[in-house]
Amino acid sequence: MKDISPIEWKNGVLKVLDQTLLPKEKKYIICKTYRDVEKVIKEMKLRGAPLIGIVAAFAIAMELKNSNFSNYTSLYNKVQHISDVLLKTRPTAVNLKWALNRIMTVMERNKERRINSLKELLISEANKIYRDDYESNKAIGFFGAELIRDNDRILTHCNAGALATSGYGTAIGVIRAAFERKKKITVFVDETRPYLQGARLTAWELSELGIPHYLITDNMAGYFMYKGMIDVVIVGADRITANGDVANKIGTYTLAVLAYTHKVPFYVAAPASTIDFSLKKGDDIPIEERDEKEVKMIAGKEITTKKTKALHPAFDITPAKYISAIITDHGIIRAPFDINLEKVFLNKENNINL
Ligand code: MRU
Repeated sequence: MKDISPIEWKNGVLKVLDQTLLPKEKKYIICKTYRDVEKVIKEMKLRGAPLIGIVAAFAIAMELKNSNFSNYTSLYNKVQHISDVLLKTRPTAVNLKWALNRIMTVMERNKERRINSLKELLISEANKIYRDDYESNKAIGFFGAELIRDNDRILTHCNAGALATSGYGTAIGVIRAAFERKKKITVFVDETRPYLQGARLTAWELSELGIPHYLITDNMAGYFMYKGMIDVVIVGADRITANGDVANKIGTYTLAVLAYTHKVPFYVAAPASTIDFSLKKGDDIPIEERDEKEVKMIAGKEITTKKTKALHPAFDITPAKYISAIITDHGIIRAPFDINLEKVFLNKENNINL
């Protein structure tokens, strides 16, 4: 099956597939500076937690590739500045902080190197972050496919596919891996208001992959669960705290509560870069508030009165108690999440399916 590439990195230039135009138009935006990258993230031309982290690392790489530094301090200050600028773009997805920390750590550990060699090292670290994400996605798919049975009807929300990652996907990676293993599946795709990531992006990815699917509006999920037409729910994550609470696209919590009530397994698929051990619980996660305009419009058209005000939290928190398992690149983690996440990711008991 062919991969969809949300970005292309070549000779210090980043080409970004404009996701706001999909599926109608396939147009790439050229980013040559970190300010270009800041803009594409803020304007949602590119989105999805792992992908935001990857492009943040490339934003630093492009600056290093295209400028000269006389000493370590000037290089350090520049990297720190870019990092500060990008960290303000989207606060909920922790992968951004994770990728920038990874670059900062390599920089600080190699301060004795010659400037050009340090630059090369940091650029190759950005490439490594990109490649590692792909490997993580494949591992998530490998472990997660085991949880999918023949004839399962799978509900997913938002887009946690190739377009949100390095090109394979987390939640969609699991669906894809099950399909590649010849399991007969049908996917129910929540449209995901207000940005319609489900209708525009997930449905497009599934069409490209030839995976049978239905588009449903967000308010139909309860009806289909009540009718016994959903066997499993799989979503991605923007941040997972030490106790297993999950921040993901607004509407995820509603699905988790519905799934719990109807005894439908609710899985979260995410790589290690999404787990934030510095936060104890979901309530500590900053939730991005976006412009009310985005709720008052659909596909560029106003749908309500000028006087009406709208609210727009972009993410919500799903408490760990509603989650059947977290499918990670290190294996499938089950409750108690606080103990098992720590065991696998901090004590490095690798590849154990708890
Ligand atoms: O606002 P978005 O489109 O960036 O939100 C994306 C999601 O909520 C995804 O589910 C999450 O980032 C995981 S992507 C692998």
